[in-house]
Amino acid sequence: MIYELSNPVAKTLLNHLREKKSDALRFRHIVQELSRLLVYEALKNETLYDQTVTTWQGEETFGFIKEEDIIFVTILRAGLPMIESVTALFPNASSGFLAMKRDENTHQSILYYDRIPECEGKTVIIVDPMVATAGSLCDAISVIEGKSPKKIISLNIIGSPEGMAVLKQKHPNVEVFIAHIDKKLNEYKFIIPGLGDAGDRSYNTMN
Ligand code: PRP
Repeated sequence: MIYELSNPVAKTLLNHLREKKSDALRFRHIVQELSRLLVYEALKNETLYDQTVTTWQGEETFGFIKEEDIIFVTILRAGLPMIESVTALFPNASSGFLAMKRDENTHQSILYYDRIPECEGKTVIIVDPMVATAGSLCDAISVIEGKSPKKIISLNIIGSPEGMAVLKQKHPNVEVFIAHIDKKLNEYKFIIPGLGDAGDRSYNTMN
């Protein structure tokens, strides 16, 4: 399932990311804001569990998402602002980290660090701003699938139609929530028109 945000606020923020003049601070800020919109959307049908709260008028029971059943996983490094943002909403959720680097010649992603907690029976939410060929995301999904989660959700800021097609074909059970699907990939597998390299733009390493 692939769900693209249609919210005009989300589209406006996304289009500000495209502007070259948006500096690293603004870039990360918008990525974080969009990440929150995506997680609200992705968890909109989540079951609420009763918990007793001491309110200003005594004890009462209210519904809460079971944060302990959620694991956020990010792919270094462009996903770091995203995981910061979503874990701020759910401080009791766990986090996992994968490091991958896309080989600029073969366009294949190479996994070189894997630090993901026990996933059995949990909802794993992968956060990575870009889905170009979908190679990195597919590799991340395969690593996580091997750990028997209940469900895998992916939150992404921008993707290509080519990447979406690969995801749909290889991982039809993964729920993908994305702020925008762009026009195409170019011959270097960059998203067009895109927003540049999210990792470089977040951390000022454009040169
Ligand atoms: C970017 C992005 C994804 C990947 C997408 O990371 O964050 O992980 O590329 O490309 P794909 O769909 O073709 O696999 P990058 O390799 O540029 O590393 P970075 O986060 O360190 O900038």
